[in-house]
Amino acid sequence: MMRRLLWSLVVLTALAALFAATVAWLNVRGEEALPDAPVAFEATPQLVERGRYLALAGNCATCHTTRGGAPYAGGVVIDTPFGAVVAGNLTPDKTHGIGSWSAAHFWRAMHHGRSKDGRLLYPAFPYPNFTRITREDSNAIYAYLQQEVPASTRPNDAHRLRFPYGTQAALAVWRAFSFRPQTFVASAGQPAEWNRGAYLVEGLGHCIACHGARNTLGATQDARGLSGGSLLVEGWYAPSLTSPREAGVADWPTAEIVALLQTGTSARGSVMGPMADVVYRSTQHLNDEDLRAMARYLQQLPGAEGASKAGAPRATTAEAQPRRDESLMLRGQRIYDQRCAYCHGDQGQGQPGAFPPLAGNRAVLMDSPVNLIQIVRRGGFLPATGGNPRPHGMPPFAQVLDDNDVSAVLSFARGSWGNDAPPVTARDMLRR
Ligand code: HEC
Ligand code: HEC
Ligand code: HEC
Repeated sequence: MMRRLLWSLVVLTALAALFAATVAWLNVRGEEALPDAPVAFEATPQLVERGRYLALAGNCATCHTTRGGAPYAGGVVIDTPFGAVVAGNLTPDKTHGIGSWSAAHFWRAMHHGRSKDGRLLYPAFPYPNFTRITREDSNAIYAYLQQEVPASTRPNDAHRLRFPYGTQAALAVWRAFSFRPQTFVASAGQPAEWNRGAYLVEGLGHCIACHGARNTLGATQDARGLSGGSLLVEGWYAPSLTSPREAGVADWPTAEIVALLQTGTSARGSVMGPMADVVYRSTQHLNDEDLRAMARYLQQLPGAEGASKAGAPRATTAEAQPRRDESLMLRGQRIYDQRCAYCHGDQGQGQPGAFPPLAGNRAVLMDSPVNLIQIVRRGGFLPATGGNPRPHGMPPFAQVLDDNDVSAVLSFARGSWGNDAPPVTARDMLRR
């Protein structure tokens, strides 16, 4: 008896050690030892300028610059279901920033997700996407940060993650299952333009960080592609880029997709909420060639037909709800006429160039009503861009409309002027 127990213990300990060793090994696979002396590194003006551009393509500032704070000095808190992670100081300050880092340290962070001191980094830093960028592009961003960005002495704040998520051991296990350093491989069967688009969307653009499904460990699932994802903490839904009924653009003219990414608005639709921020801080700064490449890639995403909408928070379906609740519709119409019609038109037709139509608008008809609830409660602005410098705004209605009013007016908009989407229920309102 005693012997059996002892044996089990020995076996268990051995298995645990094996598991730990495997996890440890999986966490350093593909890493080369860092050179002892920093390799001579010439930051030409062209390289620095390229780095400035690539930092915009990767939207580094959205997480590394606080509102009103020094550029890239860190301090932005990113809330995750596991707690808060704070993005650090990327300025060339030797103590608090990355001033003492070599280009190889920087590459290891971008490609392997490991800090200068060897610490594993949290994937709230989208290195599961950045891992695909080339060493040259990593060097360019490094050169830009070192040469152009003023040093800031802002100290880094500690992360505030719940146990056990805050431990390096938990992160190592997570990485063993969910992260693998990758190299972008151009697809031989595709033109250079498509490959450039793929490189930008899958790499620096990290579109999948929002538009992808996540598993229970919070890892984006590459296999499911850009099929839509919920931003749990912010309460928005990033619609599927592969579904024509959500945000798919397979049937859009390329110029309209470019317009959307460049100006935030187009004849086919306009951006709001977190996507408005992406356009404002990132895509509006990209050149036409790169935007066209991204558009081409988005047009040809696999599964554009009948993509699964896994993960999309759905509205209660029509079967579960009597199709039309006339009193709800009447109430919604009264609110609409009073609060919304003067901008969106009495037939939901909108005003070209100023206010989006609600009739026939894909964003209004989408199964998931979460973004509609958000925009009515919080209001919103299209991003101010070169192509649309003084955008119109929509006021927030959270102060004047209660949950019942919001569900009524949205149910009305989803069921009028030829729109035929299920009503927004009290349960939908509770989701956030
Ligand atoms: C979605 C938010 C987000 C974006 C976008 C983002 N980062 Fe970060 N970054 C973070 C967070 C959060 C951390 C902290 C991770 C940690 O400490 O474990 C971080 C850490 C880093 C680190 C490691 C710093 C250190 O002290 O170890 C580097 C380097 C870095 N980011 C560079 C970049 C660059 C370059 C870009 C743009 C190409 C970028 N980041 C875009 C959130 C972001
Ligand atoms: C921070 C999260 C986030 C990131 C990163 C992000 N998106 Fe979005 N995106 C959203 C949300 C939320 C929406 C839904 C709101 C809306 O319609 O604008 C959206 C909507 C869209 C739409 C539909 C717009 C419309 O009017 O139909 C397109 C197209 C799109 N995103 C493309 C992209 C591309 C390409 C990237 C990568 C360069 C990207 N997104 C990165 C959150 C994000
Ligand atoms: C002062 C003008 C104004 C009023 C009043 C207004 N809106 Fe808006 N609405 C806008 C603008 C401008 C946008 C685009 C903002 C953005 O995308 O961030 C917008 C966007 C929207 C969208 C998203 C459409 C899309 O394609 O992204 C919906 C849905 C919406 N409004 C519904 C309503 C409802 C319901 C009301 C009344 C409760 C209302 N709006 C009142 C100006 C207005």
